[in-house]
Amino acid sequence: MTFNYSAGELTVRGHKIKDIAAEFGTPVIIYDETYMTGMMQKYHGVLKRHNIPYSVSYASKAFSSVQMIKLLEEQNMELDVVSVGELYTALAAGYPVRNIHFHGNNKTPEEIEYALAHGVRFFIIDGLDEIELINTLASRLVEDDLVSVLIRINPSVEVNTHDYIATGQEDSKFGLSLSNGAAKTAIDTISNCSKLEFKGIHYHLGSQLDDSTPFINAITNVYAWLDEHDIDIEILNMGGGYGVRYTDDDVRFPIEEGFDAIIGHLKNVVAASRGGRGQDDGRDDGREMPHIMIEPGRSIAAESAITVYEVGTVKDLPGVARYVSVDGGMSDHIRTPLYGAEYEIIPVAEDDGDSGVSTHVVGKLCESGDIIGKDKNLPAELSRGDLIAVRTTGAYHYSMASNYNQMRKPAVVFVSESGVREVIRRQTLEQLIENDVR
Ligand code: LLP
Repeated sequence: MTFNYSAGELTVRGHKIKDIAAEFGTPVIIYDETYMTGMMQKYHGVLKRHNIPYSVSYASKAFSSVQMIKLLEEQNMELDVVSVGELYTALAAGYPVRNIHFHGNNKTPEEIEYALAHGVRFFIIDGLDEIELINTLASRLVEDDLVSVLIRINPSVEVNTHDYIATGQEDSKFGLSLSNGAAKTAIDTISNCSKLEFKGIHYHLGSQLDDSTPFINAITNVYAWLDEHDIDIEILNMGGGYGVRYTDDDVRFPIEEGFDAIIGHLKNVVAASRGGRGQDDGRDDGREMPHIMIEPGRSIAAESAITVYEVGTVKDLPGVARYVSVDGGMSDHIRTPLYGAEYEIIPVAEDDGDSGVSTHVVGKLCESGDIIGKDKNLPAELSRGDLIAVRTTGAYHYSMASNYNQMRKPAVVFVSESGVREVIRRQTLEQLIENDVR
């Protein structure tokens, strides 16, 4: 585990959390940079050992910032963006535009124009009307180049996750259906577009998946469909969604065995597939292994960070509950109010174990639903000024933060063996009204 107690103090890579909190204030999101690079290397390692063409494309929606993007570039990671804002962040970090993939179920004409003008040459098509739009804009903005496109499809596989983060099913705002003909129509339309080059298939089955079964089923369904329509692909992008451990009840996606199983299955399916070509045309040239792309977000960032809060009001309701309020809340921790997500919450100064005192940790925003965790086992003597840490807040926390109640977005710090550095400063009061007309 990356954040450990040492001599009674929570630490990361030899640095005391309480010292980091004192320097940068609270709430603060503290990342173990070394853990993150380790995760990036783990994905590279497992795919490399299968001897296949591949790329690992980080889903920047999980957590994006200039320093994060620089780290991704150093680690040979490609990048997914879903908005002009994510693209802008990547470009501001000097990230090579050729490795950026533009996603989204409603890319606006302005976004497509901006992306093309800045050199993005890789789009994931999510709807039929977008094909013509990208082609037309590319005809105007792109001279000697073609724009590579994948189509996002729904492979219709069951996944076991929260409804809000399941995406690969038929009834979804994302992707093109295989069964109703939309995906095939998309490919036919692309083949008539002078500026677009069809490269392959993308799907994202959902998030926080804990085993390889849905990925395996998706490969089976997709190749059956490719065979049926005699479609060749160069790239197969299986999306992200590899689960992490928020609490003891969660099972991490087993990256090594999981990909061994997925890639093993893919190799078999590819070898057995004839691309739908009948024997009568004299061809029996099976398919080649596609270039594999995966798009992990959460599994790289989530477990690498904690959020540290300072305790304020402690309200004891004898026989009912103890409420501990902290100096942040749903403005930086929306996943519990939104999905009922559970987290592990621990004191920054080590406690002797089970205090037997059940505590509701709540934020300071004006909503009863502003809950960080219910029935947590925290020290009996917790009081104003103490620090507590919420584990596994590296993904979909800062990126989903809001200014509700005019809360300022927290500071973000990266820690490695070589030191502690602030990568995002806490928002200032002035920034809260910088766009206000006065
Ligand atoms: N690729 C695509 C096309 C995606 O839509 C997503 C996530 C990913 C990759 C990365 O998935 P990951 O590896 O991070 O699970 N706000 C929700 C998560 C929404 C995820 C949406 N798409 C949450 O906090 O759980």
